[in-house]
Amino acid sequence: MIIKGFVLINPLNKRGLIVFSLFIISLLFSYSTHAQTAEAEKNFVQCKACHTIGGGKLVGPDLKGVTERRDEAWLIKFIQNSQALVQAGDPVAVKVFEENFKIPMPPHNLTDDQVKDILLYIKNGGKIAGTSVAAEEKTGTEADQVSQQELQPEKEEILAEIKMKEARRMTTTFVVMIILIVISLTDLFLTRIIKQKWIHTIIILIALSIISEVVFIESAALGRQQYYQPTQPVWFSHKVHAGQNRIDCMYCHFTADKSMHAGIPPVQVCMNCHHVVKKGKRTGEKEIKKVTDAYANGTPIQWVKVHNLPDHVYFNHEQHVKIGKVDCTECHGQVKKMDEIIQVNSLGMGWCIDCHRTRQIDLNNKFYDQYTRLHEKIKNGEIANPTVINVGGEECAKCHY
Ligand code: HEC
Ligand code: HEC
Ligand code: HEC
Ligand code: HEC
Ligand code: HEC
Ligand code: HEC
Repeated sequence: MIIKGFVLINPLNKRGLIVFSLFIISLLFSYSTHAQTAEAEKNFVQCKACHTIGGGKLVGPDLKGVTERRDEAWLIKFIQNSQALVQAGDPVAVKVFEENFKIPMPPHNLTDDQVKDILLYIKNGGKIAGTSVAAEEKTGTEADQVSQQELQPEKEEILAEIKMKEARRMTTTFVVMIILIVISLTDLFLTRIIKQKWIHTIIILIALSIISEVVFIESAALGRQQYYQPTQPVWFSHKVHAGQNRIDCMYCHFTADKSMHAGIPPVQVCMNCHHVVKKGKRTGEKEIKKVTDAYANGTPIQWVKVHNLPDHVYFNHEQHVKIGKVDCTECHGQVKKMDEIIQVNSLGMGWCIDCHRTRQIDLNNKFYDQYTRLHEKIKNGEIANPTVINVGGEECAKCHY
């Protein structure tokens, strides 16, 4: 029995051992490639401002197929410091540089292995090897959402324009009424062309009532700055950068998903490109010179803040961009189409609360795990579709200091 058992069990054990070790090896292998590509994805974020993989040219060329078009050793050197290659007169580097309007690619502090990783990631079409179909489907719907959002705001833009015209018309009405009053007063006391005094009285009364109506409407929005569009010290166009050159918002407003403030980029960020791009199609050298001068003198550019909330209101970008997944366009409008930024929403309390009342929150977000009572209520069927209100989006203290 014992011998039989021994004989029987032993080969099984051996086979088991082989299978087991194969399993461990494959696990280790898949783990190590996964970890590598996950790092590659992180490292590729810095490239995204200027490159796509299969999405067309941005500031730099589309990187799809670049691993076939060029040799690996060349790519490593080029990505680490392209300008060194260009200056050394490498024919391929010079050609690529010239084909891309001599915009230099900034050097990257990456090791050879890190670059090889990124190249694998590019070869893979910008995906981590072995990502699930679910994840791909998700990016698909995200793309759909983006295109939908890009279609819809044309309407919003037109609306904003109409409203702006309305505001202008109000100012015109106001001025015309004042002029009418002045004219009738002058005629009443000085020129005396119209003899009937009651005509003057009627004109003045009507003008006064229209003026008070305008004042009433305007004062309701007092302190708010909808359609505010100050002149900036440098003619910086979001249409040129975020629109035509498709630079990601996060490349410049890189704190929007990790802090209260989205932040305005320091001039060093501009210099990544304007080190070499010295001329614009619309403003020539004039505006870009201000940027390079600011950099050379070490004086920051004094941008005028467009969106302003009163001091007693608390607003946090990270909360909305990262946790709430609210798109920049929902609050700031079609920035990609704006040469100069204009505030399209009122930023009034009603505007904030209207969205909080209707916006459903995504309970799959781990952030909401802390709301245990809310989860109970959902289980009990008390709440079907939780909105921001259910996590405190209407509590005075959340928005007011
Ligand atoms: C600020 C913009 C910018 C950033 C950031 C950037 N690139 Fe580039 N890249 C360019 C430009 C412009 C070119 C065109 C060639 C040149 O400038 O010399 C280029 C060229 C390339 C090329 C050569 C393409 C070809 O057809 O031969 C590769 C490869 C490349 N970049 C990879 C990367 C990688 C990888 C990263 C991130 C680590 C990156 N780039 C970050 C702007 C950028
Ligand atoms: C190349 C850098 C760059 C990119 C890319 C960029 N911005 Fe800006 N952004 C700036 C600068 C500089 C300012 C300050 C000057 C101004 O208001 O125009 C600014 C200002 C703003 C403001 C107004 C801030 C205020 O003063 O209230 C908003 C809103 C904004 N950006 C949103 C976006 C969105 C949304 C995107 C992406 C579609 C984007 N930006 C892409 C550089 C950039
Ligand atoms: C839920 C609405 C909302 C969303 C979403 C949003 N913003 Fe804002 N943003 C605001 C408000 C409100 C202000 C004014 C904040 C203040 O005065 O404190 C502001 C201010 C700014 C400013 C001026 C500087 C600052 O940090 O105050 C920039 C730049 C900006 N936003 C960019 C962005 C970008 C880029 C995105 C997308 C990644 C974005 N915002 C998403 C509402 C929003
Ligand atoms: C990723 C690259 C990149 C960055 C970062 C960048 N720019 Fe530009 N910028 C460009 C390109 C490309 C053009 C277009 C040149 C043209 O008109 O052909 C341009 C054009 C301009 C122009 C001239 C526009 C015209 O049409 O006349 C100004 C002014 C300007 N940028 C200012 C800035 C400022 C300020 C910053 C920093 C907040 C900045 N840029 C950051 C790439 C960049
Ligand atoms: C377009 C929709 C939208 C607009 C407009 C908006 N919010 Fe929100 N807000 C959200 C979403 C979604 C959340 C949920 C994220 C979370 O739970 O932190 C949120 C959460 C918040 C929270 C945290 C609530 C909590 O208890 O977690 C505060 C505070 C807040 N918003 C303030 C504001 C202020 C102030 C404004 C106006 C200046 C504003 N929001 C405008 C969508 C919006
Ligand atoms: C989602 C965020 C939010 C919540 C919740 C909120 N407020 Fe406000 N509140 C604002 C904003 C934004 C303003 C600035 C409005 C403006 O400039 O017109 C404001 C302005 C005010 C003002 C100044 C009046 C004015 O028009 O400037 C008072 C008073 C006020 N809120 C009271 C409250 C009280 C009381 C509550 C609780 C019932 C509350 N708020 C809840 C965002 C909020």
